[in-house]
Amino acid sequence: MKAVVITRFGGPEVLEIQDVPKPQPGPEEVLVNVRSTALNRADLLQRSGRYAAPAGEPQNISGLEFAGEVAELGTNAHRWRKGDGVMGIVGGGAHAEFVTTHQDAVVAVPSNLDWSAAGAVPEVFITAHDALRQAGFKAGENVLIHAAGSGVGLAATQIVKALGGRAFGTSRTPDKIERAKAFGLESGFSVSEPSVLAELSVFADDVTGGRGFDVVLDLNGGPYFAASLEAMALRGRLILIGGVAGGKTDVDLYQILRKRLHIIGTVLRARSLQEKITITAAFAEEVVPLLAKGTIQPVIDSVFHLDQCQDAHRRLESNETFGKVVLTIS
Ligand SMILES: NC(=O)c1ccc[n+]([C@@H]2O[C@H](COP(=O)([O-])OP(=O)(O)OC[C@H]3O[C@@H](n4cnc5c(N)ncnc54)[C@H](OP(=O)(O)O)[C@@H]3O)[C@@H](O)[C@H]2O)c1
Repeated sequence: MKAVVITRFGGPEVLEIQDVPKPQPGPEEVLVNVRSTALNRADLLQRSGRYAAPAGEPQNISGLEFAGEVAELGTNAHRWRKGDGVMGIVGGGAHAEFVTTHQDAVVAVPSNLDWSAAGAVPEVFITAHDALRQAGFKAGENVLIHAAGSGVGLAATQIVKALGGRAFGTSRTPDKIERAKAFGLESGFSVSEPSVLAELSVFADDVTGGRGFDVVLDLNGGPYFAASLEAMALRGRLILIGGVAGGKTDVDLYQILRKRLHIIGTVLRARSLQEKITITAAFAEEVVPLLAKGTIQPVIDSVFHLDQCQDAHRRLESNETFGKVVLTIS
């Protein structure tokens, strides 16, 4: 089968389409003929040698999500039939024509989504939904989402709105805040440079009537983490999901004490199979029906063919994207 192979660590030029052995499904697994997949920050990090795939996953083929047709069934896999459309997350190897995964780690693709749209769903909607669950998000709460125009940010914004919350966000690009309003963002805070984060708590007071944010989905880390603490409500929950803005920051611990804040960290990729099955089931129950009804939708920045994987990596790395960079496979 064809796959995007990381031939050595470096820039997008190290990626090559190569013929590699097709994976074989284990007893409870399905082999999926991947019709579309998408890029994630983890793929960029893996390509540049800063994020090794978990043990047991292909080290030189990136790709954390897929949508496609069931092509073969393991000897004990009876949940799906050949030809069923499924989508899900894996620990690696999805930038390829075929991928294997446990039969319970996939969900049916809603009939209103074409392949490009389906490939843009799993990683960001599962990440956003799982983070909101971990943070104990409830209807009526105020949620702040850093990097609101990102793939995860736009998924989170839509889920928050659909489940009865109010979504607010930050971005370094004012235009992304405006565009995110079409997906349910109530208002946004533009971060022209990190120093303006000192004003984040003023924004929080303004938009929440002095209450502060009940939940913060921190996709950026660095100074965003520190500034968020000041903008949070009593007993607020911050969940750290990404660190594009840095892994270190100066934190006022007394904010955490006084407000009795909960600080949570999360990663999807390194979780056990059982944990992935559990979050996929929660996603199937609460999010997939919203996708099927069109209440929420994948937001696609751009679509590339697998052969154009280098250009796709350049596009994501530009930080100009609004939503997902999708790779199609014919
Ligand atoms: N924990 C997990 O399991 C998990 C799963 C998926 C994703 N993630 C993380 O979640 C974050 C979002 O992922 P995604 O795929 O949705 O990202 P994405 O679509 O690539 O968007 C990321 C956006 O972040 C902003 N950004 C980049 N560098 C920044 C910096 N130094 N300071 C502030 N903003 C910056 C950029 O938008 P603007 O500059 O225009 O605002 C960029 O477009 C990433 O950090 C990713 O690693 C974590």
